[in-house]
Amino acid sequence: MSDDSQHSAPDLGMGRPHPARIYDYLLGGKDNFPPDRAAAEQGLAAAPDVRDIALANRRFLVRVVRHLAGLGVRQFLDVGTGFPTSPNVHEIAGEDSRVVYVDIDPVVVNHGRALLAKRAGVRMLEGDLREPEAVLAEAGELLDLGEPVALLVVSVTHNVTDAEDPAGILARYMKALAPGSYLAVSQMASDVSPERSAALADVAARQRTTLLPRTHAEVLSQFGGLELLEPGLVQVPLWHPDEQEKGVDLSRVWTYGGVALKA
Ligand SMILES: C[S@@+](CC[C@H](N)C(=O)[O-])C[C@H]1O[C@@H](n2cnc3c(N)ncnc32)[C@H](O)[C@@H]1O
Repeated sequence: MSDDSQHSAPDLGMGRPHPARIYDYLLGGKDNFPPDRAAAEQGLAAAPDVRDIALANRRFLVRVVRHLAGLGVRQFLDVGTGFPTSPNVHEIAGEDSRVVYVDIDPVVVNHGRALLAKRAGVRMLEGDLREPEAVLAEAGELLDLGEPVALLVVSVTHNVTDAEDPAGILARYMKALAPGSYLAVSQMASDVSPERSAALADVAARQRTTLLPRTHAEVLSQFGGLELLEPGLVQVPLWHPDEQEKGVDLSRVWTYGGVALKA
């Protein structure tokens, strides 16, 4: 099978690696195909920390949702959600919450829909982070966009190029969302373990996938000047750590994460 850009919708692109399916393999899931496994193994060979990063990132997401639910947030828009992984946002956020999951990968969307079909207050959409107005219009069929929403963009902006302007994209979402909304972002760092992140970026470039680790200042700019909650933008194990983060080797978890409030 060749590049799926040459095919219409039914081609699920199983002939080449996809970020969601590589990530699923790293998390120990079964929703991946040979090109994804090969790409993940090449990534692991170049940067063995990648699996630590995936797991720490997922734990960060869980703590973020728990924290925001504790602050009273009842609406979540999780863009670049990945394959359903338990616990997922709706399981953490509570039964009275509304959750919209969005992913660009049709295989992720099919799985999500199959699993979530009967869940009240939960929807799975196929959409592109880089098209904020379209995503918000569809998400607004379930979410009340006049009320605060937590926008979760966790481990996705490193799949967006500088030319596509991740900060500008996120600013368009936050401009549209009500005051009291939150923005959570995590993305791979280029300045924590520079040789290893550069090695992974090289592998990704050879696989023709976009994976761009960025500096602390570059990731911070994705919040567009919004006020960050304590402890700011930090390596993800340092964001409101619980017992599981004790003893984590920070040199192996080169991913930044933070949460900001739209006042
Ligand atoms: C590394 S996974 C992160 C999954 C989840 N957010 C987490 O942190 O556990 C990245 C996900 O973003 C999705 N993705 C990549 N680019 C995207 C885009 N432009 N719009 C929507 N989803 C995108 C991929 O398909 C994949 O499922």
